[in-house]
Amino acid sequence: MFIRAGSWLNFVVEVIIRADEAAAARLVARILVKEVRANPHLVLGLATGRTMEAVYRLLVEAHRQEGLDFSLCRTFNLDEYVGLAADHPGAYRYYMNRHLFEQVNFDPRNTHLPNGMAKDLEAECARYEHVIEKAGGIDLQLLGIGRDGHIGFNEPLSALRSRTRVKALTPTTLEQNAPCFGGADNMPRRAITMGVGTILECRRCLLLATGAEKAEVIARAVEGPITSMVSATALQLHPRCTVVVDEPAARRLEGADYYHWIFANEPEWEEFRES
Ligand code: F6R
Repeated sequence: MFIRAGSWLNFVVEVIIRADEAAAARLVARILVKEVRANPHLVLGLATGRTMEAVYRLLVEAHRQEGLDFSLCRTFNLDEYVGLAADHPGAYRYYMNRHLFEQVNFDPRNTHLPNGMAKDLEAECARYEHVIEKAGGIDLQLLGIGRDGHIGFNEPLSALRSRTRVKALTPTTLEQNAPCFGGADNMPRRAITMGVGTILECRRCLLLATGAEKAEVIARAVEGPITSMVSATALQLHPRCTVVVDEPAARRLEGADYYHWIFANEPEWEEFRES
């Protein structure tokens, strides 16, 4: 029997290190393609951000070249800025339409993001939780990670059991995302985000992080103590979480050799190893 990193009974954080950003995105896309093929009714949790763009490009390619069918899938995005209309170029709805939804065959009625323009934001958060529940919960949640350890927009000190709510963004996040708005001054200061508790309820988590600027936070998230100061550490409590990183983002991982060895030997990953 193989014991995976962080395994306890069937609780598993699997870390997979690929050579570069392209190979890491390819692996994540292949996992997603396999899951969609296995279950056409998959309920997918989606993320935005620079890191995900390569993954969405590959999903579009799989749709166009291999006929990957999203028509029965439902999607729930992690977050949306408060105060941005769907057609604002900084809005996550705009990002998703552009990078994925309009490029493949999702039924638009099945694609969900929190409404950051809602008059009653608290009611909107409760509504979002309700629609996720009505869909039967999220089967597979795609995640990125912020430099401050956020998943979704769960900034430091987000309660580990938190639900969908409005969060004030940290200066680190404002700085990280400012280029999309032509400067931090033009950026919304708040966002609606699924809570850490909401994320932990999905059936599988798949986190992708690339680049040297994520190395420190990835080491803390995967190998550090669980703390609400780094929301991603909560993933260590998830029954099935796969973390895919490239070599630069893996630089600070103490268990890197072990993770490489597991990926090379664990039968489950055989079909995902590239020749
Ligand atoms: C956005 C989201 C965020 C990003 C994270 C990384 O929907 O969930 O947690 O995944 O901020 O962003 P990038 O990929 O731009 O570094």
